[in-house]
Amino acid sequence: MTSHLKKVELHCHLEGAAPPALTESQARKYGVDTTSFMRDGVYLWNDFAEFLVSYDKVSEVYRTEEDYALLTETYLEELASIGTIYSELIVSPDHGERIGLGADAYMAGVSAGILSAKEKTGIEARLIVTGERHFGPERVIKAAEYAAKSDNPLITGFNMAGEERMGRVADYARAFDVAREAGLGITIHAGEVCGAFSVADAVDLVKPARIGHGVRAIEDSELVKRLADLGTVLEVCPGSNIALKVFPDFASHPLRRLKEAGVRVTISSDDPPFFHTSLKREYELASEAFGFSDTEINEMTRTGIEAAFVDEATRKALLAKI
Ligand code: ADE
Ligand code: ZN
Repeated sequence: MTSHLKKVELHCHLEGAAPPALTESQARKYGVDTTSFMRDGVYLWNDFAEFLVSYDKVSEVYRTEEDYALLTETYLEELASIGTIYSELIVSPDHGERIGLGADAYMAGVSAGILSAKEKTGIEARLIVTGERHFGPERVIKAAEYAAKSDNPLITGFNMAGEERMGRVADYARAFDVAREAGLGITIHAGEVCGAFSVADAVDLVKPARIGHGVRAIEDSELVKRLADLGTVLEVCPGSNIALKVFPDFASHPLRRLKEAGVRVTISSDDPPFFHTSLKREYELASEAFGFSDTEINEMTRTGIEAAFVDEATRKALLAKI
């Protein structure tokens, strides 16, 4: 039972959190045929590459500033209803450009959703701008420049998501320099689809405060020690990892081993309905599949706040709630 615990989420892709019922109503509104990407309220995909395609198809039914406000508010209200006090949403202004809405209108919609969820529930949220690796280094650099130039106070971090097998981290390092110079918090997807080398590349070339997933660092014990020594925080998403077959089952998932090796770990849901999960379920899994005590789970939640990309006054207020 983890329903009484306060929760924090550092790693969730906004479009990846789209509730299937909302996607269906959006699809009806725009006359979109959903049969190629959802059936009986379930998003369809078979492997990581298909997941990325399905993700883009779902995203296509969110088209206007209002659609993005509704999506954001809906997800944050769901989080607040399970005791979540803080959320970082991974968003893609570049996606806003690609769908013809425009990056500014996309971000305005998302920001409006955050403000109304905060007004209704008190949930605190920030935005991590992401570049998507499979669209190439130029687009990722453009996303970093957008985040760096923005005066939106909700944008506090930069990430890179997408197809990890495309290129090497070095090809994208410039984007992280731009984001770092602008004072944004740095996190990067690594060690999810690719192995420990990808995490080592990220650590060496990007020097991130946090890594999205990072779980395949477990394949290299020296690297695990390095992550522990550096204090790099892993945004671990166990349900996502099992759904994508990064590990065959929870018994072989390295969350506990990483924590016991001194790596700072947190738990998140990634793209919850795609992976048949939710932040509520991730907390339940921490207890039931990994056997963590409430004290250990609270430790991970506290790590999440310590590593959050927020100002110090907000961090202090959040820590006081645990
Ligand atoms: N984009 C959305 N979800 C992702 C994931 N789990 N890995 C990489 N890119 C993503
Ligand atoms: Zn992710």
